[in-house]
Amino acid sequence: MTATTSADPRLSGRALRRVAFDEETIASRVAELGAEITNAYPDGELLVLGLLKGSFIFLSDLVRHIVRPIQVDFLVAASYGDATVSSGTVRLLYDPETTLEGKHILLVEDIVDSGRTLNRLMTVLEERAPRSLEICALLHKRIAIELNHDPKFVGFDAPHEFLVGYGLDHAENFRHLPYIASLQ
Ligand code: IMP
Ligand code: MG
Repeated sequence: MTATTSADPRLSGRALRRVAFDEETIASRVAELGAEITNAYPDGELLVLGLLKGSFIFLSDLVRHIVRPIQVDFLVAASYGDATVSSGTVRLLYDPETTLEGKHILLVEDIVDSGRTLNRLMTVLEERAPRSLEICALLHKRIAIELNHDPKFVGFDAPHEFLVGYGLDHAENFRHLPYIASLQ
């Protein structure tokens, strides 16, 4: 942990354990991901679907590095605490307004942990008959044992710590940090 971050007024006195990915590191990797995505889709309609809320900063940076026509929309899925989750289905609180049928769909997620969120969402999205369906995750903890769909695009392998910043939260706090850090 650097002196700068311990003095960061955004933290309301909460101590960080360490900065896992700083602003410059994130920016250059996100630019690379944008180029990878641009090259991976030579033709067809591409709909980039951001999973809220965690992906909002990543998505907004990423789409500015995708140099081809795209559409952007969002998904909001019911959170962990919701009773429908234990039934093995996912409830969409916000469903994209744009049709998915016949389009390349790229689902953008902040972090893959157990993989449960993605497994359920991908099942729902597959039913909409997209032309292709892939995942772009900023962070991947590589601990998911039952991941049905491997993310095609991954920013970084994540340390096995609870991370905040660049969209990731702890009880809705710290999403606005420009870097990704673990909490003390
Ligand atoms: P999964 O379903 O276990 O893969 O969980 C994925 C979701 O859990 C992510 O979209 C995050 O919202 C949240 N999550 C998992 N790990 C972390 C973390 O280290 N920090 C913040 N949120 C996390
Ligand atoms: Mg999330």
